[in-house]
Amino acid sequence: MSTWNEQWEVEQHSEYWKTPDVDICSFLKEMQASGKQTILDYGCGIGRHSILFAKNGFKVTAIDPSEKAIQYLRKWAEKENLNIDCICGDISNTETRFDIILCFNVLYHGTRRSMQSLLNKINHRMDSGSILYFTCPTHDDGKYGYGKELESHTFLSSKSIHPGDLHYFLNRKDLLELLTQFNVLEIKRDEHFWDNNGSEEFSSYWKIKCNKK
Ligand SMILES: C[S@@+](CC[C@H](N)C(=O)[O-])C[C@H]1O[C@@H](n2cnc3c(N)ncnc32)[C@H](O)[C@@H]1O
Repeated sequence: MSTWNEQWEVEQHSEYWKTPDVDICSFLKEMQASGKQTILDYGCGIGRHSILFAKNGFKVTAIDPSEKAIQYLRKWAEKENLNIDCICGDISNTETRFDIILCFNVLYHGTRRSMQSLLNKINHRMDSGSILYFTCPTHDDGKYGYGKELESHTFLSSKSIHPGDLHYFLNRKDLLELLTQFNVLEIKRDEHFWDNNGSEEFSSYWKIKCNKK
């Protein structure tokens, strides 16, 4: 299994990671309309969503444990003349509360226990009006069941674009059980096919919007 730093060494050249997700573009408009101003892009990667929100006037904090990814984002922000607080680390590196916390394709890279622990910590960085938006794979995702199963529904995915990446897959019931500290505002299943180095794979991910109870 490669590290995130090794993965970003290669993925920094991919257009996919520089292009914001289409649902996040709609989410941004909704957040602007509701007057939100600060956002934590948690597990920001090279920062496609940090750049998007900063360009649209939000005060952005971007956190990622990959030094390579943060270095890339610092340079990108400088080139765009944007002021983004870029932190190499994890949730313990901030005590700030944010209007929005975005965790796009981040929280499930671990076990169920690590995902629950991250959700608890994120809950403490939110106020009553804050919104959390995150994604995670369903049991119907094409990667489910492939690779070494470390725990129930937890695989070192052999079909990941980065083979060996740890993924925790959730059904709706499990997802809701993990969110007892949150009010769920919206759950969407995003499903499509994608090209994994020439082989067609099915992607099935939850997209969840919630606030703090
Ligand atoms: C699939 S990438 C997504 C990057 C970005 N959110 C995006 O959509 O472009 C996952 C990122 O999450 C970061 N990550 C993985 N586990 C993490 C954790 N426990 N806390 C913070 N970031 C994490 C990785 O370093 C990696 O950059």
